[in-house]
Amino acid sequence: MTTPTIARPIDGKAAAAAVREKVAAEVARLSRENGLVPGLAVVLVGDDPASAAYVRSKGKATVAAGMRSFEHRLPASASQAELLDVVALLNADPTVHGILVQLPVPPQIDPHAVIMAIDPRKDVDGLHPENAGRLASGLPALVPCTPLGCLHLTKSVHSSLAGLEAVVVGRSNLVGKPVAQLLLAENATVTLAHSKTRDLPAVCRRADILVAAVGKPGMIRGDWVKPGATVIDVGINRVATDDGKGRLTGDVAYDEAEKVAGHITPVPGGVGPTTVAFLLVNTVRAACAAAGLPAPAL
Ligand code: GUN
Repeated sequence: MTTPTIARPIDGKAAAAAVREKVAAEVARLSRENGLVPGLAVVLVGDDPASAAYVRSKGKATVAAGMRSFEHRLPASASQAELLDVVALLNADPTVHGILVQLPVPPQIDPHAVIMAIDPRKDVDGLHPENAGRLASGLPALVPCTPLGCLHLTKSVHSSLAGLEAVVVGRSNLVGKPVAQLLLAENATVTLAHSKTRDLPAVCRRADILVAAVGKPGMIRGDWVKPGATVIDVGINRVATDDGKGRLTGDVAYDEAEKVAGHITPVPGGVGPTTVAFLLVNTVRAACAAAGLPAPAL
């Protein structure tokens, strides 16, 4: 009888802590040598508890890295014009190098109008079409933070992605599309799959690197995973539990997939913590660019 092998979990918390430490060292150097203190402004519209928790953790991480944190809260009833006024103020503020409007925004606000209003040089979410286009064209860009985290974790277990089959499930502007671009830039052979993809399980089984970003708890089953594959689970889904507290779970059926995969990111503790770490990285990059300094080695 052969002993079943269990995938090695990829520790996103440790990886994020290491990135945040490097950011803090770089921030200290910039402050010491250039008098530059990077600043990040986060805007929250409404009081969705999950969004409020994310915004708090971003603010805490920003301060912990030695940067300036600005938080702007608007009521759920705020108009698009009110939000655009706040964005305009932040665009004009030289102490603010990064602007993030927490998504989703309430239905009376068009998220595209808000994203388009953010100065692309301060767009630390990498969502402005200028940054998305630059990424697709292979030009320097601010790149969305969660995809940067996915790539960082993938590269922590693969020295080269050249020629590997990568399948990304989910085609959002925030994750699926930019992750596909980053993997392509690393010379992986990329398939961007989605809800209309025919025989999704068979497509997933081709993947040496499988990235799940669909927002459906446990959708990717164990028998969709190629033996030895690296599985990056971007899903953060809150599911009900008997004790009423709920728990976070990913898009991958972890208990099944860990019996097949080579490496796998857990939820929580996988991709999630790296998102905030790369938000800090993007803010330092934006601050250096604004000050005419070379891109930091982060
Ligand atoms: N909501 C969930 N994730 C994100 C993110 O990365 N950026 C923004 N702006 N909103 C989010």
